[in-house]
Amino acid sequence: MTDALLQVDDLRVSFAVGGLEVRAVDGVSFTVDPGRTLAIIGESGSGKTVCCRAIMGLLPGTAAISGSARLRGSELLGLSDAELRRHRGSDVAMVFQDPARSLNPTMRVGVQITEAIKTHRAVSRREAQTQAIELLRLVRIPAAERRFHEYPHQLSGGMRQRVMIAIALACRPKLLIADEATTSLDVTTQAQIMELLLELQQELDMALILISHDMGLAASYADEVVVMYAGKIVEQAPAMRLFGTGGAVRMRYTRALLDAVPHLERPAHYPLPVVGGRPPDPTALPPGCSFAPRCASAADDCVAKAPALLEHAPGHRWACWHPCENGGAA
Ligand SMILES: Nc1ncnc2c1ncn2[C@@H]1O[C@H](COP(=O)(O)OP(=O)(O)OP(=O)(O)O)[C@@H](O)[C@H]1O
Ligand SMILES: [Mg+2]
Repeated sequence: MTDALLQVDDLRVSFAVGGLEVRAVDGVSFTVDPGRTLAIIGESGSGKTVCCRAIMGLLPGTAAISGSARLRGSELLGLSDAELRRHRGSDVAMVFQDPARSLNPTMRVGVQITEAIKTHRAVSRREAQTQAIELLRLVRIPAAERRFHEYPHQLSGGMRQRVMIAIALACRPKLLIADEATTSLDVTTQAQIMELLLELQQELDMALILISHDMGLAASYADEVVVMYAGKIVEQAPAMRLFGTGGAVRMRYTRALLDAVPHLERPAHYPLPVVGGRPPDPTALPPGCSFAPRCASAADDCVAKAPALLEHAPGHRWACWHPCENGGAA
């Protein structure tokens, strides 16, 4: 038995679309320890959001889900809505990409936070309002009493994202999942929100899952990194190992994501390298490695048989027949 906060085992999610099966998440396993930060990184469509929505019980009824996701040992998959509501916001909460669409434009932000508190806690309205103002202060919103009475459109994008974080924190979750939570913000505000999340993580002793396509975020903030491609984890390692000096990246896909991060030393007009080609059709995944059609090192065995995700070094797993040697540096 481990003391993991979240333990996900062989999670599979598929959707039936027009008579075809979309395998959105295909046998994903990982753990998150208390107070730690896991980054889930991958291209668009690789299954990051579906994976976390499955854990949160936020997928539509059309999703076929199997596997296990245990929070402090208790299974989350297959719970009733009422049971899930007890977990959501008390043990685990999620912040989404677009605060403009996640907040109700017709309700004052204070009311929205107060409602979130009252959903999970048996407190009076007055007490919930007091706690809502405290939450606005906690997410460093200046003049919290005044902002409490404002509507979302009166706040900047960064402020709205702070409100979303306040709502997510309403019941002091032990795990916060931030799904591209800073993607819609400008670079400076992104950094401020990330700093806020890290400070709150310390203050509240929370674990974080950061979902992003940006490997730079993983390099800056994560303890552990999971790299997803076509519904599968293809590489997984402690951040120190991947990004430390003499980085140990083994997958060319991981390398390509890392190379796509803008560097300060690179001139602004320098085109960013991109991962050539397109992700596979999720309704027709190839029998071999699904990255093979885009991989410079693909050989016959890659096309014939999918490599399993195996632990090749302590804490470092990868799924590749022909891994890079020197961290993939050119
Ligand atoms: N409700 C749904 N019905 C059918 N297919 C879906 C549904 N939700 C997601 N998918 C499919 O599942 C796959 C994984 O989607 P997901 O949203 O998890 O990707 P992602 O990694 O979060 O991408 P992004 O970086 O663009 O947010 C995609 O092929 C997507 O089209
Ligand atoms: Mg997503």
